[in-house]
Amino acid sequence: MPGLGVRAPRTLDDVPGWFYPPDQALMTWFLRWQDRHEPLGDLLELGAYVGKSAILIGSHLRSSERLTVCDLFDSPAPDADNVVEMSRSYSTLTRLTFESNYLAFHHELPVIIEGPTSVICDHVAPASCRLVHIDASHLYQHVRTDIEASRVLLRPGGLVVCDDYRAAHTPGVAAAVWSAVTSGDLQPICLTPHKFYGTWSASERIREDLVEWLTTQGPGTFDLQTVAGHPVVRINRWPDPPRPSLRAIHARPTLLSHEPEVDGAVAGDASGAAGGWARNARAWSRKTALQWLPPVLTSAIRNARRARYQRQPRVRDTG
Ligand SMILES: C[S@@+](CC[C@H](N)C(=O)[O-])C[C@H]1O[C@@H](n2cnc3c(N)ncnc32)[C@H](O)[C@@H]1O
Repeated sequence: MPGLGVRAPRTLDDVPGWFYPPDQALMTWFLRWQDRHEPLGDLLELGAYVGKSAILIGSHLRSSERLTVCDLFDSPAPDADNVVEMSRSYSTLTRLTFESNYLAFHHELPVIIEGPTSVICDHVAPASCRLVHIDASHLYQHVRTDIEASRVLLRPGGLVVCDDYRAAHTPGVAAAVWSAVTSGDLQPICLTPHKFYGTWSASERIREDLVEWLTTQGPGTFDLQTVAGHPVVRINRWPDPPRPSLRAIHARPTLLSHEPEVDGAVAGDASGAAGGWARNARAWSRKTALQWLPPVLTSAIRNARRARYQRQPRVRDTG
């Protein structure tokens, strides 16, 4: 099966997971909105499975930001119910599959915390994150702890995204999410069939911008509701959400295939496409220059580049 270790994925569609097109479009929109309006901040995913959502989130890293993912991967679950959940739903998961899928799209791994999400506050600094994606255990007590952690780890204006907040088989997520809204300060911004997007801060501006954008996505895409006094955008019918087209490194057109490309090639908007063309143009001029230099010099340059690539650090932090 693609993405589970037999064949390298070429696009995000080849990576198994539960990260569906409307949420790929929305997560991309939210991360780009932060890019335009918010200062630097780290990204965090609780529950990575084999990388589908982490690969997309990691493509939005800005310089000096970092992505941390926390998952049990090959480690034991912390309690009996979680053991059952793991063996029922994720029995084929290995950390190696996550790592190879992620490295098919990016040149460096994220920071990996292998262990229960209850330890996340020991590894990530308070108020350091701009987005936390909660998609680990779907049991009430775990999700409640994860939501509390998001409040500590997000900086003002940060976004929390909770998976499966309304699925029939995950009532514990629904209970944890809505109780954080009704008896806590969690502000809902947007609801899709699979994910809840919210914040612990004021949410008017981002919600207004989201509505403006969704209005361009065709009639009936969304409606506006009020839940426990909170205005919320509900995605209704969105047959063709604008998907980010993420291609694996080996599947990207590049003139120097032995060289790593710059991270984060998300096509689908003008800046991403322009960035890709600019990189290709730079690669082209480097290649052309190499063709005209004396052979002794060109092989020295190639050897230096190869050595620099091999020296690149692979960041790991095993909890
Ligand atoms: C639904 S999957 C994540 C899907 C992924 N975000 C995606 O969209 O492709 C849930 C993940 O949570 C992990 N998990 C379950 N219980 C956990 C716990 N207590 N701590 C950390 N990770 C856990 C599982 O190993 C699994 O990989």
